[in-house]
Formats: sequence, structure tokens, C-alpha cells
Amino acid sequence: MKIVVLGGTGLIGRQLVAELAILGHDAVAASPKNGVDSMTGAGLLVAFAGAQVVVDVTNPKSFEDDAVLDFFRSSAGNTAAAARNAGVGHLLVLSIVGTDRLQNSGYFRGKLAQEQALADSGVPFTIVRATQFFEFLGTIAEGHTREGVAHLPTFAFQPIASADVALALAHPATSQPMNGIIEIAGPERAPLAEFVATWLSAQDDPRGIVPDEGAGYFGAPADDSTLVPGEQARLLQTRFEAWLDRQTQKADA
Ligand SMILES: NC(=O)c1ccc[n+]([C@@H]2O[C@H](COP(=O)([O-])OP(=O)(O)OC[C@H]3O[C@@H](n4cnc5c(N)ncnc54)[C@H](OP(=O)(O)O)[C@@H]3O)[C@@H](O)[C@H]2O)c1
Repeated sequence: MKIVVLGGTGLIGRQLVAELAILGHDAVAASPKNGVDSMTGAGLLVAFAGAQVVVDVTNPKSFEDDAVLDFFRSSAGNTAAAARNAGVGHLLVLSIVGTDRLQNSGYFRGKLAQEQALADSGVPFTIVRATQFFEFLGTIAEGHTREGVAHLPTFAFQPIASADVALALAHPATSQPMNGIIEIAGPERAPLAEFVATWLSAQDDPRGIVPDEGAGYFGAPADDSTLVPGEQARLLQTRFEAWLDRQTQKADA
């Protein structure tokens, strides 16, 4: 089966392309690096020709509120139109657990617009919402650091390895469309501050840490129920400490 992975050169995309190829599919990475731009629509129709499935794992370069909304809205609109015109049978997008609960954040407004464009596309679809990637913890630390001190929220958090996200995406990408939302997450739940503190310590990062019960998520209000999945979520296997050990081994090799 031909499966186009839009954003197939990114963190999730390249692992998903590899996983789909192992499963015997004709997995094609599409992104600006190979002449496909979902923001402008350039190259989409040609890339989607003959594809049964399109998986959207794009992400913008700028996370500034207006730029993100513009990116996801335009990109998802162009992708939906091209998928319809090319006769694609299943559109799948990677979104984020809690997207509907974090609408004070420009990034999450963008993700909801992306989900909406897909659901309104007329093409059978699946939305997969994942929790935050282990690989994103450094960005979270940066985003909450002021004057060299990380002010870390303490609400519940349940991150996941990006490799597990790619593994998990391969299943719906090769199954019937759900015309709905599924959630995936890592196996462990703990305060966000604990995960980030462990990550910083593993990097020998000397910055101070202040757990801050009132801190939101990148400034957006959040609590124990905002970023964690519901009871029906599929939980993947990789534990945080095991993942950290593997990163350290790779760095030492
Ligand atoms: N970070 C998290 O914790 C988290 C959690 C849940 C879900 N997600 C979602 O996961 C998705 C993938 O994230 P990621 O970390 O894998 O992203 P990433 O590594 O930043 O990769 C982004 C991909 O998007 C492509 N892209 C950028 N602009 C494009 C355009 N105009 N047209 C087509 N492709 C374009 C890039 O292509 P080039 O390489 O050619 O630039 C790249 O392949 C995102 O939608 C994000 O919202 C993230």
C-alpha cells in the first residue's frame, strides 16, 4: 500500500517511514526538503497520486501564536483538499492529548484547527492524540526557564518515547479509518517537574529548579487533568529511565 508521510523527514516522520517500510508498505516521505509544501500546496497532488493513506506529522518552524495557527490551518486545508482530489482513502493526523483543553495556547489552537480541517475534509480520517515526547523535555525546560532557573509546573504528566509514537501510528495508518480520535501515552504518570528534573540531571544541566504549583504549560493554565489521557488510551511500553539510559549509551558510543 502506498502511504505518504507528510512531514516524513521530521522526528516522528522518519521513524514512521522506516516502520511502514519494514511492514512492507511503499512509504513515501513528503516535505519541503523533497519539494512538497503543505503551506502553499506545492507538490501535494503529485505526492498523493496513487496513495491510499496520507499521514500528517508536519510541524511549523516558528511556534509564535499567529504563525502556528496560520501554518496548521493552511497546511491542513491544503492537505485535505489535495487528499480529496487525489482520491486518498484515509487521512491520519498526529495531534496532542488535551488539545481541546489548552485553547489558551496558540499552538493548541493551531492543532485544533488542524484536527477540524481533517474532520471536515470529507475524506475518512483518524486523529491520533499523543502525549508529549521524551525528546521534548528539553524544550519544556527551556520554555519554563527565567534567569537561569526552571520554574516547573507540578501537574500530572505522562510522556512517551517518539519511537513508540511511530510504532503506534503504524497500526491505524494500515487499518480502517476510525472517523474519530484515539489517544496514546507513555506507561508512567508523575508530576511534570519530576520528569524534567530527571532529564536535566541526566544532561548534567546545572540550572536551578523551582517546582511551581501555579505554573501553566508554556503560560497556558493547566491542571492534573489537562495533559494526561483518558482511560481508553493505548499505553506504550518504553519507560522513561530505560529511554534515558539508551540516550546516555548512544552519546557514549
Ligand atoms: N513534541 C511533542 O511532544 C508532541 C506531542 C504530541 C504530538 N506532537 C505532534 O507531532 C507532530 C510531529 O512532530 P515532530 O517533532 O516529528 O516534528 P519535527 O521533527 O519538527 O518535523 C516537522 C516535519 O514537518 C515538515 N514540514 C515543515 N513545514 C512543512 C511544510 N510547509 N510542508 C510540509 N512539511 C513541512 C518538516 O519538513 P522539513 O524537514 O523538510 O523541514 C518535517 O518533516 C507535530 O504535528 C506535533 O504537533 C508533538
